[in-house]
Amino acid sequence: MSHADAAADPLTPAALQMHLKTAVFGHRVYFYPSIGSTNDRALELAAAGEPEGSLVLAEQQTGGRGRRARSWHSPPGLGIYASLVLRPRVEAPKAPLFTIAAAVSVATALRAGGVVARIKWPNDVLVGTRKIAGILGESRGSEPEIRDLVIGIGLNVHQEAGDFPGDLAPTATSLRIESGAAPRRAEILAAVLEEFERRYSRLLRGAPDDLLRDWGTLSAVPAGGRIAVDGPDGRCEGELVGVDADGALLLRRPGGATARVPFGEIVETLWP
Ligand code: BTN
Repeated sequence: MSHADAAADPLTPAALQMHLKTAVFGHRVYFYPSIGSTNDRALELAAAGEPEGSLVLAEQQTGGRGRRARSWHSPPGLGIYASLVLRPRVEAPKAPLFTIAAAVSVATALRAGGVVARIKWPNDVLVGTRKIAGILGESRGSEPEIRDLVIGIGLNVHQEAGDFPGDLAPTATSLRIESGAAPRRAEILAAVLEEFERRYSRLLRGAPDDLLRDWGTLSAVPAGGRIAVDGPDGRCEGELVGVDADGALLLRRPGGATARVPFGEIVETLWP
């Protein structure tokens, strides 16, 4: 069992600061040994006027949340559970782009550590077909600009195969499983924040092109791959074209028309 090693891998504000190279992200940290959900706390802080870049960090979540009312398994010490407060002055339909930027940042940071991570639109970070991390972006105040945006990052780090509950066991993985090494959570989170801050500031300057290019390189489904997507208008099948400047998925439908799916989930991949 890896838990002894996990105990030797502190993810405290002090440990994070030792590795942090960002200008703003993660300099102000609210740390909780145990909390319901770091996203809930970050949304509360944002509503109370918390400045951009503040981070809510927890050793354990008792009510970790995923997208579509799913839960996020958050046992003590085994993962990274972190939520960042952001205040992008952009229109609400662009919010999904920040979730994608976070997913690209996580995948890039993991690759720098030798783990070949890919992204399944919009928010899953995978190694092979197994999920290693997820992003939960939640915004408040949508007319016409986003007021508060919280980006929550859940990353499986020290779990061994037996640490995942039955329903997750066939589909989840962790850094320890994939790298065989003893990962350092503070180093990894600092690397993710650095990647994300750089991509975020480019997005605010209206330059999404390199993010969209990187997304294409990291996508678990290659361009032209056949997929089924569950979106606001129900299920839609087609060939992946890419992601547009709002983070929406573009699909070529069987008749040749392009379908735009602003939010949803890839539910099936029918590889080429
Ligand atoms: C998903 O894959 O559906 C998203 C999972 C996001 C989990 C993280 S853990 C930190 C933050 N707090 C939460 O309650 N959820 C996110």
